[in-house]
Amino acid sequence: MSTTHYGFDLSHQFPVAFTSGVFAPDNPSFADAIVRGDRSRSHRLLVIVDSGVASTHPNLNEDIAAYCDRHAPMLALATPAMVTRGGEAAKFGMDPALDVVGWINTLGIDRQSYVVAIGGGAVLDMVSFAAAIAHRGVRVVRVPTTTLAQGDSGFAVKNGVNLFGKKNFVGTFVPPWAVVNGAEFLRTLAPRDRRCGLAEAVKVAVLKDSEFFAWLEANASLLGSGDADAMQAAVERSAELHLAHICGNGDPFELGSARPLDFGHWSAHKLEAISNHEVKHGEAVAIGMALDVRYCVHAGLLNETDAGRILATLTAMGFHLDHPALLTRGPSGALTIIDGLQEFREHLGGELTITLLHGIGRPFEAHHMDLAHVQNAIDDLRALSPA
Ligand SMILES: NC(=O)c1ccc[n+]([C@@H]2O[C@H](COP(=O)([O-])OP(=O)(O)OC[C@H]3O[C@@H](n4cnc5c(N)ncnc54)[C@H](O)[C@@H]3O)[C@@H](O)[C@H]2O)c1
Ligand SMILES: [Zn+2]
Repeated sequence: MSTTHYGFDLSHQFPVAFTSGVFAPDNPSFADAIVRGDRSRSHRLLVIVDSGVASTHPNLNEDIAAYCDRHAPMLALATPAMVTRGGEAAKFGMDPALDVVGWINTLGIDRQSYVVAIGGGAVLDMVSFAAAIAHRGVRVVRVPTTTLAQGDSGFAVKNGVNLFGKKNFVGTFVPPWAVVNGAEFLRTLAPRDRRCGLAEAVKVAVLKDSEFFAWLEANASLLGSGDADAMQAAVERSAELHLAHICGNGDPFELGSARPLDFGHWSAHKLEAISNHEVKHGEAVAIGMALDVRYCVHAGLLNETDAGRILATLTAMGFHLDHPALLTRGPSGALTIIDGLQEFREHLGGELTITLLHGIGRPFEAHHMDLAHVQNAIDDLRALSPA
């Protein structure tokens, strides 16, 4: 009798490009990202576009077709771009993802082909999930079109859709084949959607880079007004910090119990669900961070100065740091938002691990949250926010 342990190491590289005019015929970024040096064959593409992008970029379909013609025979469209509903509706249950799986089937998209997802974080999550389960994994190229997706979710190694009223209940860990960000997409965003990416930028700054936080603090109003140059700088620095963490911390597939980048997210995911996604992910993250910041003050973990700087920065960016859904109570009378803690723990398994702050740039992992202080923090947000 014997037991032998076998194993192998995997390595994965993917390009992340920031460019302008992704489908301008002579811009090589997109073609290069697909081809990755393999010029000896034709690369078939199934392109899927977020409906919010399709409606604000009416020439996109023709531009993609012209781009593929210009780069033929290396790039070949399997069909004119397909449109899928944008926003969190993309992640409501399995149906949108199964539509994509169906297109992969009927169009004969195989594992040497590419699914190109063009859209916000929700569409990227859903399409990437569908591609991950079809044929046990078709390559995905992401063209993120929101500030949040360009600065955070677009190059994430995880995907998923919502099920049983829970965020991202089904999904997989799969790195993208390539990511190509186009500045032109950010110009058509509605102000609320444009602001959302700033929440993840503040989050990663507060966790990883106090100098970047100081820059965000100094430029908060400008960023909140949607200034294109400031926004581009914020998105690119946010992307660098997220990528450095994902590729450098040794746990890209979250095998441990910690989610070190998910500051403010235990309540954010729950708030999104309780509000029926009226609160967008970035807005919920801003509220969730504010809640955890006030929690840390009540628990004697964080000083009022750092707490005040974080809340003032978010407010100056235009985030409203309170929502009536925070006060929703279940049949037992307990605050429903608290269920977010248990769901966060269940999602990862193991011991509850929440990222909290000792200061700006000084995160730590906590394994317990005192519910009385959570209540105090919610009371603070109510009191601090203008009606
Ligand atoms: N996989 C991850 O690691 C990860 C990380 C962070 C967030 N997320 C997910 O990302 C989602 C939020 O993404 P989001 O903030 O990009 O919002 P979103 O995808 O919900 O898009 C917001 C709205 O903007 C529209 N839109 C997209 N691009 C546009 C453009 N260029 N012009 C005009 N309208 C456009 C969409 O149609 C939608 O109506 C959430 O589901 C969240 O859970 C995933
Ligand atoms: Zn997030």
